[in-house]
Amino acid sequence: MRIMVTGGCGFIGSNFIRQHLEKNPGDEIVNLDKLTYAGRRENLSDLEEKESYKFVRGDICSENDVEQAMKGCNAVVNFAAESHVDRSIEDSDAFAKSNFFGVKVLCDQARKQNVEKFVQISTDEVYGQIAEGSFKETDMLNPRNPYSAAKAGGELLAMSYFTTYGLPVVVTRSSNNYGMFQFPEKLIPLFITNLLRGKNVPLYGEGKNVRDWLFVLDNCEAIGLVLEKGRNGEVYNIGGNQELQNIELTKKLLAGLGKGEEMIERVEDRPGHDLRYSLDCSKIEAELGWKPKTGFEQGLKETVKWYKENEAWWKPLVKD
Ligand SMILES: NC(=O)c1ccc[n+]([C@@H]2O[C@H](COP(=O)([O-])OP(=O)(O)OC[C@H]3O[C@@H](n4cnc5c(N)ncnc54)[C@H](O)[C@@H]3O)[C@@H](O)[C@H]2O)c1
Repeated sequence: MRIMVTGGCGFIGSNFIRQHLEKNPGDEIVNLDKLTYAGRRENLSDLEEKESYKFVRGDICSENDVEQAMKGCNAVVNFAAESHVDRSIEDSDAFAKSNFFGVKVLCDQARKQNVEKFVQISTDEVYGQIAEGSFKETDMLNPRNPYSAAKAGGELLAMSYFTTYGLPVVVTRSSNNYGMFQFPEKLIPLFITNLLRGKNVPLYGEGKNVRDWLFVLDNCEAIGLVLEKGRNGEVYNIGGNQELQNIELTKKLLAGLGKGEEMIERVEDRPGHDLRYSLDCSKIEAELGWKPKTGFEQGLKETVKWYKENEAWWKPLVKD
């Protein structure tokens, strides 16, 4: 396969590309990335010399960039997006463009170039919050912030290309990922890098919000299976089966880094902060035989170790 991966210089995309080429040495990947503040070409510097990997700097909102990069590709995996909820609350412009309009440009080209599989990477946030129980793929979407609303728009548009034009679209909705190469604005790497610098960790409100945590390489494996065997026109939830309140997670991080609870700094809650996300992942388990492999304690240990050993990667990205 020759696969166009978009947003491959970001957190999940870079882990996906490395894992995919390790597992499928005969495949080729073209990585189209705009290199926003969140994208770093050096995340894949180990692959730059390989014939199977090609980096192209470009924007998924540009018809020309997409047309050129997609040439000869038989599959597309679209990771490219603005991904930080807090930034979307400040200004949703880039979110509407990349997370919605960019999907349209990609789908149009995928149609023109007869792509055989189009995987749209979406998020559990499109469901909105749930007090009890877990969301199934057939549940209604109720996104509650500009990030998740733009992502919901993007996946619905992609799915409409399946219904209307027969474009072979499959959508994944994963829970919160964590692991190596995550930009230190997101909770886990923010807290780790703060603690490594002796700084406090800013916890929103009471810390009662619940998220499900998924180790990034487990998500990449699930996406690989969806790419290979996912049924067109279907959505697959991908969760880590590791629900934690933010305060519980924070305590685990503090313990893992040998710090006390005095490092917690309560800050004003995010507006419209969803209380709990939860996914029912029985569909991907039954259809594709996927389950998360990495326990949270193990994944967190590996993640802390990576940030400890890769200070040169994150130091230039943190403010002071
Ligand atoms: N991180 C999570 O926990 C999580 C959970 C569920 C779903 N997702 C989804 O997974 C995808 C990847 O998330 P991430 O955490 O790796 O994000 P990220 O912010 O780390 O990376 C995004 C990448 O996309 C690139 N990009 C942004 N706009 C672009 C554009 N217009 N054209 C080309 N490239 C562009 C950036 O340069 C960057 O390399 C996103 O679609 C996100 O919505 C993420």
